[in-house]
Amino acid sequence: MFIENAPLQARNTFAITANSRFLAEVTTEAELVSLLQTVTAKNLPLLVLGGGSNIVLSQDYEGLVICPKFKGIRCLHESNDSVVIEAAAGENWHDFVQYCLANGWYGLENLSLIPGTVGAAPMQNIGAYGVEIKDCFHGLRAIVRQTGAIREFSLADCQFGYRDSVFKQALKDQYIISYVRFQLSKIPTIKLQYGDIAAELTQQQIVSPTPIDVARAVITIRQRKLPDPAKIGNAGSFFKNPVIPQAQFVALKTAYPHMVAYPQADNVKLAAGWLIEQTGWKGQTLGHAGVYEKQALVLVNRGGAKGHDILHLAHTIQRDVLAKFGVALEIEANII
Ligand code: EPU
Repeated sequence: MFIENAPLQARNTFAITANSRFLAEVTTEAELVSLLQTVTAKNLPLLVLGGGSNIVLSQDYEGLVICPKFKGIRCLHESNDSVVIEAAAGENWHDFVQYCLANGWYGLENLSLIPGTVGAAPMQNIGAYGVEIKDCFHGLRAIVRQTGAIREFSLADCQFGYRDSVFKQALKDQYIISYVRFQLSKIPTIKLQYGDIAAELTQQQIVSPTPIDVARAVITIRQRKLPDPAKIGNAGSFFKNPVIPQAQFVALKTAYPHMVAYPQADNVKLAAGWLIEQTGWKGQTLGHAGVYEKQALVLVNRGGAKGHDILHLAHTIQRDVLAKFGVALEIEANII
């Protein structure tokens, strides 16, 4: 059941070499429950790995890596204008989004081409191009790590925020998500407020876009800006876009009139990529790690990077952004 001394390089999109003392792939929820009951008795530390697209392995893992591989997508409820769809944790996120689109179930199109699995998506409330999964979320089922008991979570229970959920906060490391449900619409609502999409559709001379057009535009933009993890190791945005008080923003904007920012209800969100670019780090390399040439928010493996190479670069960037702008960048990826 367990693989011993399992190599993890092919299981993390940064392609960092590290081993896990044990690894188990589970293909059903029941198998996962019985595995957890065995493991609890052994008192092993646990790491759940979906697509491995949001982690930095800083060392070998002295515990058990669990890879939920169970599959399945089904419609739980259908009305004239909406559906509730359940997908298993091991489904590939992008394939799931495209499957929904092909069936005329809309709402997730702006989230096309995000790497990773369905089960990992709620952990950090994945988001892109003006949509987050909380916008279409219906509920999820998760397993208590300690006991193997099954618990349902509603939208409110998940406490979603910007790249955040209860699973990263109060309930961190306590549950493994097994199934996620989405409420999707049969009637398209096109969301183009995120500048790049509208511009891309205009360039393609599409005047009345369908959700499939929007998905294609998002895919084109992502392929243009973000490195393909199959070719260049990376974990997407490495830092969160920082949110600062209005007064601090006014002072910064006076000093840096071109600063890119998005006003929120009470605060202002800054484009971390812009801040990093201003420090001169875009396209640079430190050790085996680098800052992607086309998007400064993405750190990349230049070949043979270990976790400490990535973290050394990340900390250097944090130091330089803080020194120049007085703004602290928070690492978005999970450091293991
Ligand atoms: N910018 C620069 N230089 C750069 C990068 C960005 O000046 O090198 C400025 C540009 O003005 C650009 C703006 O920052 O217009 C925003 O950049 P972009 O549209 O690429 O988005 P982002 O804020 O850097 C966020 C998400 C991405 C998501 C995009 C699109 C976070 C941490 N990241 O990036 O998510 O795809 O918006 O919605 O919120 C991810 O989480 O892995 C991820 C890729």
